[in-house]
Amino acid sequence: MNRRPMENAFPTVVGSIHFMETEARAAATKQWSENPAGINLAAAPEGTSEFYEQMTRSRYALQPWLPDLIRSWVPRGGRVLEIGCGAGTDHSVIASLAGDTAAIDLASHGAQLTQTRLELEGRPGTAQVADAEDMPFPDQSFDGVYSFGVLHHTDHPERAIAEMWRVMRPGATFLVALYHKHSMFAAQKAVEYAVRLRWRSQTWRDYLPELEYGADALEQRPLVRLYSRQSARSLFSQFHDVRVRTEHPALSGYLLPDWLRPFGWYVVVTGRR
Ligand SMILES: C[S@@+](CC[C@H](N)C(=O)[O-])C[C@H]1O[C@@H](n2cnc3c(N)ncnc32)[C@H](O)[C@@H]1O
Repeated sequence: MNRRPMENAFPTVVGSIHFMETEARAAATKQWSENPAGINLAAAPEGTSEFYEQMTRSRYALQPWLPDLIRSWVPRGGRVLEIGCGAGTDHSVIASLAGDTAAIDLASHGAQLTQTRLELEGRPGTAQVADAEDMPFPDQSFDGVYSFGVLHHTDHPERAIAEMWRVMRPGATFLVALYHKHSMFAAQKAVEYAVRLRWRSQTWRDYLPELEYGADALEQRPLVRLYSRQSARSLFSQFHDVRVRTEHPALSGYLLPDWLRPFGWYVVVTGRR
């Protein structure tokens, strides 16, 4: 089956947003409507304070560098947009420091969980269903844009980045994390794939998305791209002060030694419009 993203001609209506349905969008919506990233890390009933606390504890035990990275980036008191908020764990950190926030996600389940968290924590932001490639915001309306683990799942990352530019005020900053092609994790997946191929025929494009929780059970799997540091940097060539670093989840509670960090799973790109 050809799983390459194809532009289908039927428009989908989600809330008040109309966007052109594509195979990658449909797959991402299905994947993360069923399994918003991180909800498998919490046992408490969905939407409760305990549920959000459990997700936060587990996420940041796995990525202990992430809260400080977010805190050091958030424009204090500014208006901040998160693209692909998932269940809203990072959004909560952002909302604790920003003046106001907006969050979008293709999957209504994630947008709803983020909205509930904002309300539970008494923050003024809003979360809604929308597409990174066609955002429902006026030009130059944000002081910062954050997106973690999202833009490698969309059909046209360059369109999403053009949208980021459009909605950012001059001088606004961004922090975007993408999956890293030259990482130990990608190398491990490539070895596993080579071994598995001996028993069953499967394309790399269908195999790689199995790293997303629950995706191996799906017929239509989300699109997953990998970026080198250089290709990630090139995506943001129109921005200023673009910096790239790599990070990796903690392994059994331990961070990678500095000399292995260049082979971490996330390419983190920061810059300014
Ligand atoms: C791997 S999850 C990451 C979620 C969250 N940022 C996190 O780190 O837990 C990817 C998220 O991006 C969303 N997504 C994928 N393509 C998108 C698009 N074009 N526009 C908005 N959200 C998108 C998915 O629905 C999903 O919630």
